Formats: sequence, C-alpha cells, structure tokens
Amino acid sequence: MSELSAIEVPLRQKNIVLIGFMGVGKTTVGQLVASKLYRDFVDVDLELEKKYSMSVSDIFASMGEKKFREMEEEFICDLVTSTRLKVISLGGGAFVNEKIRKTCLESSIVFYLDLSWDSWKKRLHLIMNNRPVLQDKSLDEIEELFYRRQNYYENNNSKIATDDLNPEEVADYLVSSLKLGWELYE
Ligand code: S3P
Repeated sequence: MSELSAIEVPLRQKNIVLIGFMGVGKTTVGQLVASKLYRDFVDVDLELEKKYSMSVSDIFASMGEKKFREMEEEFICDLVTSTRLKVISLGGGAFVNEKIRKTCLESSIVFYLDLSWDSWKKRLHLIMNNRPVLQDKSLDEIEELFYRRQNYYENNNSKIATDDLNPEEVADYLVSSLKLGWELYE
C-alpha cells in the first residue's frame, strides 16, 4: 500500500473526512458533498460491512466492540493514507481512537458536523435500533456519551453547527468553506 501521507498531498486533492456523533447526517451530507465536488464517496461502516460480509451490529454481537474498533482503525488508516480526492464519512466512534485522529488530521481535511443535544435527542428513535453502542443505555448514559465524544470531535479542521440547516445546506456550507480555503491557502 503506498503511503501518500509521506508525500505532500496538494490541498485540493486531500480527502475530506466527516466526523460527528451517530445520526448527525454524516452519510447524507457526505453523499451530497461528493456529488457537488464530483468525487467518490466512501462510508466506512458500509465498507466494513462489505469487507466482512456482516452488518456492524452483527460484528459487534459476534466479535465484540474491541474487534470492530481494530477493523475500523486498520481500514480508515489505510484508506486515508493511500487515496486522495475522496469524501469519507467515519463511524461516530472512530475519532475516539488516537491513531485514527492523528492519521486523518495529517492526511485529510476533517469537518465536524456538530448538533446540539436537544436536536439530537429528537432523532434518537430513528437510529436506536441499529446502533449497537446505544443498546441497553439509558437516556442519561447516552447524553454522557454524547458530551464525552465531543472532546474528541473538537480535533478538526472545521466545525459546522448543523442545528438550523438541512443536509443540502450543510453540504453547500461545507463546499463553500472548502473553496474559500483552497483559494486562500493555495
Ligand atoms: C458507532 C457509530 C456507528 C458505527 C457503530 C459505532 C459509535 O456509525 O460505526 O455502530 O460508536 O458511535 P454512525 O456514526 O455512522 O452511526
């Protein structure tokens, strides 16, 4: 596998990585951003499901979270150091891992899709059933996880407050701030 991080990747060619808590819209926004920039989109969870022929929930159930985190680390670190020009959405737990944070921040442009707890709570029923990390947790425990995760997501190149924006608006905002960055820094 070629290590692109060793070479200086031009800013315009860097991968764009989306981070944030489960259910904030990383996949929807990522697909929109990719089509606006004529790039390929990669959803890490979906790729892991294809690679291991199992849903994320089944990986958690049969192999455990620790194994899932190892697969996640290997896949993401390989991907971001061996490709360019991709839009990539990470699973919400990936940025807890220091190696993933460091590798993504060194190789890619990292956007954090931020959402307030009050807005997020309203979406819980939509994602509750297929997110193993949320199973058997009380609302207070999920809230605690939500705020604990924010500390990791604060490691980013750009943060977008998404509470009052629909996915199309988030994608437009992301693309215009990216274009501004490209003009300013290249
Ligand atoms: C997880 C988030 C999920 C998925 C897995 C674990 C987490 O991805 O990777 O269920 O720990 O937050 P999404 O953020 O796409 O839901």
